[in-house]
Amino acid sequence: MTTARLVYGSSESEGPGGFTPDGCPVELYRRAVRDNLPGPVRALIRQHSSLLDLCSGPGGATLPLYGEGMDVEWVDWSAAMLTGLPAGRTHPADATTVRLPRSFDVVLLASGLVNTRSDTLRMQFLRTCVAHVGAAGTILVERWPPAWFADPQSFTADVGNLRMAADVLGVTSYADVRFTYRIGADRWTQRVHIRDWSDAQVDADCARLGLRWAYAGGDAAWLALTPVA
Ligand SMILES: C[S@@+](CC[C@H](N)C(=O)[O-])C[C@H]1O[C@@H](n2cnc3c(N)ncnc32)[C@H](O)[C@@H]1O
Repeated sequence: MTTARLVYGSSESEGPGGFTPDGCPVELYRRAVRDNLPGPVRALIRQHSSLLDLCSGPGGATLPLYGEGMDVEWVDWSAAMLTGLPAGRTHPADATTVRLPRSFDVVLLASGLVNTRSDTLRMQFLRTCVAHVGAAGTILVERWPPAWFADPQSFTADVGNLRMAADVLGVTSYADVRFTYRIGADRWTQRVHIRDWSDAQVDADCARLGLRWAYAGGDAAWLALTPVA
């Protein structure tokens, strides 16, 4: 078992290969064939020419955009996650503090990083997004759908070649969830603490950061945050 730093509040991860400081299994993400960008989000991104993928992991969803000619850069604090992405375009750095010397049309923060139970950490992630988005640009954020927090239930899902089970271990001001992932015969677990980033909290955060927001992906999970002119 590896003990992770408090990011989502995660505490334990197990399985083959290494883990990121927040407990994400590197081998799992590198072997997973999955595309977490819904059609409307991908279409919105394609209207632009540059993209920063923050907390990108191995960049499975955004590498194809680079292949189509988009100007893409990737940030993850795990150099192992970034292995294999185009040379000169990766930044093994902490997304809470990294400041690159340029801005982007689109800044992507996927995978529910905003659902950390730490207000401080969430605001640090969002400030990094703001620091890198152009004045006419868009920040695209994936959150856990707020409706799930009304009565958090365990669930299973097949995502590409990945089988996933989410077991809710307890609920307080956040949900304590153990994920079990399987690819073929290999199995990983990761325990995370997930807190609702409600519309009301999005309103409050955007007001602090000089942003306005709207739904971006056809449901409540994806939000587009844009600088107020
Ligand atoms: C759940 S994975 C998701 C990867 C990718 N966004 C996706 O959707 O497949 C979360 C990623 O965020 C990275 N991460 C978490 N906290 C970070 C931080 N403070 N700075 C940089 N990367 C971070 C982890 O290393 C991991 O690769």
